[in-house]
Amino acid sequence: MTAVIAIYSHKGGVGKTTTAVNLAYLAAQDGHSTLLCDLDPQGASSFYFRIKPKVVKDARELNTGDNAIGRSIKGTDYERLDLLPADLSYRNLNVAFNDKKRPTKRLGRVLEPLHHEYDYIFLDCPPTLNLLAENIFTAADRLLIPLIPTTLAVNAYAQMLGFMKKQGYKTAKVYTFLSMVDARRKLHREVATAVYQQYPRVLHTPIPALSQIEQMGWQRQPLPASAPRSVAAQAYRALWAEFQQKALAPPAA
Ligand SMILES: Nc1ncnc2c1ncn2[C@@H]1O[C@H](COP(=O)(O)OP(=O)(O)O)[C@@H](O)[C@H]1O
Ligand SMILES: [Mg+2]
Repeated sequence: MTAVIAIYSHKGGVGKTTTAVNLAYLAAQDGHSTLLCDLDPQGASSFYFRIKPKVVKDARELNTGDNAIGRSIKGTDYERLDLLPADLSYRNLNVAFNDKKRPTKRLGRVLEPLHHEYDYIFLDCPPTLNLLAENIFTAADRLLIPLIPTTLAVNAYAQMLGFMKKQGYKTAKVYTFLSMVDARRKLHREVATAVYQQYPRVLHTPIPALSQIEQMGWQRQPLPASAPRSVAAQAYRALWAEFQQKALAPPAA
């Protein structure tokens, strides 16, 4: 069964793209056929991979009909890891959204034919709470939310959960982790403690604020590829392991 995992927040600059790139890489490295969809028109996750110009599957065996998404998928330098670049996916989706009758289910429909090809489909989401966000809530099997432990960010997070509930989306598929945590800051420690107490499904692995993570833009490589033994790579590995165990394991019989 394919799992569609959206790395989502309606806030920008919280670590969505960085997380999507590293987790998608780790999933592929584990032996899973993985697609990272860059849904942000600013295209950050496309930037992290040196995209091969060749179309991976020439829309060939992809049973996508005239689905422009299937035709747009590119290979990366990494085995089993493909990428849907932002310019293509976003433009196509936007047009599709305006055309169709059931606009909140469109993204899910577009991704459906790709389920035959991939074990994991990661969505690197833009910071929006609009129609695209609702499509993401519908299409994703799991939402993974990076939350910076500050009071304002937690308020915004609560608003987002409130919006989801009000619109009738299940928040049971929402998983959260603390992002860019600076353990030397008292505020971060206090807010983190409150978040663990107040919200369900908050993963225990935080991603620390590290200059090495910030520098990923220079390397243009996932951290577990460029610096496999680094603290940063270990943090993403631990996050992926915990997320898989808690969010993706089949429910106990
Ligand atoms: N854990 C971290 N520590 C330090 N810098 C980070 C961390 N995660 C992300 N960054 C940096 O913060 C900026 C925003 O991250 P990004 O993943 O692009 O966020 P988003 O996709 O939510 O907008 C980028 O410059 C990125 O390199
Ligand atoms: Mg981003």
